[in-house]
Amino acid sequence: MFVAGTVTVPGDKSLSHRALLFAAMASGTSRIERILTSLDVRSSARVLRQLGVEVSALAAGRVVTVQSRGGFRRPLGVLNCGNSGTTTRLLLGLLAAHSFTARLTGDRSLRRRPMRRVTEPLARMGAHIMEQNERGTLPLSIRGGPLTALRHEMPVSSAQIKGCLLLAGAAGAVPVSVREPHGRSRDHTERLLRTFGYSVVEEDAWVHFDSSGRVTPFHMQVPADPSSAAFPIGAAILAQGGEIRIPDVCVNPTRIGFLAVLERMGARVELDGLESRFGEPVATLLARPAALQATEVLPREIPALIDEVPLLAALATRAEGTTVFREVGELRVKESDRLGLIAENIRSLGGRAEVVENDLFVSGTEAPPVGRVRTEGDHRIAMAFAILGTSPGARVRVDDLACASVSFPDFPGMLRRIRR
Ligand code: S3P
Repeated sequence: MFVAGTVTVPGDKSLSHRALLFAAMASGTSRIERILTSLDVRSSARVLRQLGVEVSALAAGRVVTVQSRGGFRRPLGVLNCGNSGTTTRLLLGLLAAHSFTARLTGDRSLRRRPMRRVTEPLARMGAHIMEQNERGTLPLSIRGGPLTALRHEMPVSSAQIKGCLLLAGAAGAVPVSVREPHGRSRDHTERLLRTFGYSVVEEDAWVHFDSSGRVTPFHMQVPADPSSAAFPIGAAILAQGGEIRIPDVCVNPTRIGFLAVLERMGARVELDGLESRFGEPVATLLARPAALQATEVLPREIPALIDEVPLLAALATRAEGTTVFREVGELRVKESDRLGLIAENIRSLGGRAEVVENDLFVSGTEAPPVGRVRTEGDHRIAMAFAILGTSPGARVRVDDLACASVSFPDFPGMLRRIRR
C-alpha cells in the first residue's frame, strides 16, 4: 500500500490514567483535555466515581472535569478494573493510604496478572492486603492506614510498580525509595510529582521520593500516545511509498526506545517542533517507507519499548537477518502471554520465530505473511499483526480487531485514512 496524510493519534494511555488519579488527589476541580477515551481509561474513571470522585463523561473531543475532595470515600461495590493493570496497580497505591476496605477485581486477563509485586511492598508500608487465592492475584481486598517509609528493590523494572509505590508515598505522606533493576521504566509519575513540588531524585538505579509537595487542581492537555503512534509508523515503514505525519506525540525518552531500534533497523523517524507540555516533551513525528535490517535489542533497552515489542517483532519478519529481543520474559504477564503469542502468530503466518528462555528470535523471510492471527483479546497483539497485514502481498486475518479499543478506539478508521 501507499500512505499519506496527517494522522491524529489518541491521547497517551499512561498519562490519561495518571491525570485522572492525580486530579482525584487534588481538592477542587481539574480539567483534562484530549484524554484517551479507551476502555482502559474508562475503567479508571469508573472506579474513581465509585470512590466518590466526580468524573464527567469521557467522550472524544470533550474536556473531562474531575471534582474531588482530595481523597476517596468508602467505595460502593467492588472496584472492577476491567482489562487495566495500570488502573489496578496505581489505584492500590492510593488506596493504601485510605483507612477503609476496598475490593478489586478485573476481567479474565487481569485476574491472571501478578499483584504481589505491588501488594507485598504496600503491606510492608502498613496496608492490609486480603488475598483470595494462593497466587495473590485479583480479586483481592485492601485496607489502608497510616503508612511508614519504604526502601524497596523492585524485582523488575516496571512503571506500574514504581508508580504505585510513589503514589502510596504521596497519599500517605511518607518517603519512598525504589530501585529498578534493568533500566529505567517510563517516568510519568515522577514528572507529575515534580510538577506539584515533590522532590523526586534519580540516583544510579534508585528513585528517591520525598513527600514535600501537594497536588492541587490543574488543567492538562494530554499529548498523543507514542505507543499508539508506533502502529501508523509501522504501516508507513512497510508501505511502498508516501509519508505520514503524526503531530503532538509524547516523546518522553522513557517511551520512545522503539525509535532508536527502528533507526538501527534502517527506518529513521524524524522529530519536528519539539516543545514541553506539563513536564513532558512533545513533537511531530514523520515516518516513511524503509528497507529493514535485523538488530539486537538489549535488556537495558526493553523498559523504554516494552509495549512496542509486538510491533517491532512483526516488523522484524520483514527485515533481512535475525532480530533478537533479549530478556523479554516480562511479556509473559502482560494482557496476554505476549511472548508466546508473538512467536506463535509469526509462525502461523509462515514466518520464523523462536523463544529461547527469555529471549525472542525473529528471522526475516521473503514470502509475504499469510494466515490467521490469534489475539486472546490482547489489543497490542491485534494491532501489531494488523499492521503486518498491510505489507505488500500479505493476507492476514486477525481474530479480534475490536479489542484494539482497549487503547486505540478508532484503529481501523486510522488505517483506512492513511491508505492511498
Ligand atoms: C504502564 C506501564 C507498563 C506498560 C503498560 C502501562 C504504565 O507496564 O506495559 O502498558 O502506565 O505505568 P510495566 O511498566 O509494569 O511493564
